[in-house]
Amino acid sequence: MQILGHLSSRSAIASRPPVPAHLKALQRRPGNSRRAGSVRAHKVEIEHQGKKVELEVPSGQSILDVALDNGMELPHDCKMGVCMTCPAKLVSGKVDQSGGMISEDVADKGYALMCVAQPQEDCKVVTISEDELLDIQMGN
Ligand code: FES
Repeated sequence: MQILGHLSSRSAIASRPPVPAHLKALQRRPGNSRRAGSVRAHKVEIEHQGKKVELEVPSGQSILDVALDNGMELPHDCKMGVCMTCPAKLVSGKVDQSGGMISEDVADKGYALMCVAQPQEDCKVVTISEDELLDIQMGN
């Protein structure tokens, strides 16, 4: 299965406890968020494992949801900004990821969780490993 190649820490994902039902209810769904002015979508270029894909991400949707809907195979798990399985680094642009658990100083350095990242302008992101994000988050 091709997706297995994308999950360098697959065993870590498999050993995680399941997302509690009360948290699943909080999962973001398209249309749950506010619309940003009159802009209806932003272009997002995603670089993953050396391949670049450009998508239109409508206001109120996460980059991850749109990427998955367009057939990209990206690591993810909770889709609530909690598990840190979907990290990326912003090369350019700005996202709202206030629904995620990433610390503010890490977000200020340009790191993002794609499952909660909603573009506020055209963006370029590159996926990174979960370990890289955890090292930054832990201050290493
Ligand atoms: S999928 Fe869990 S933080 Fe993004």
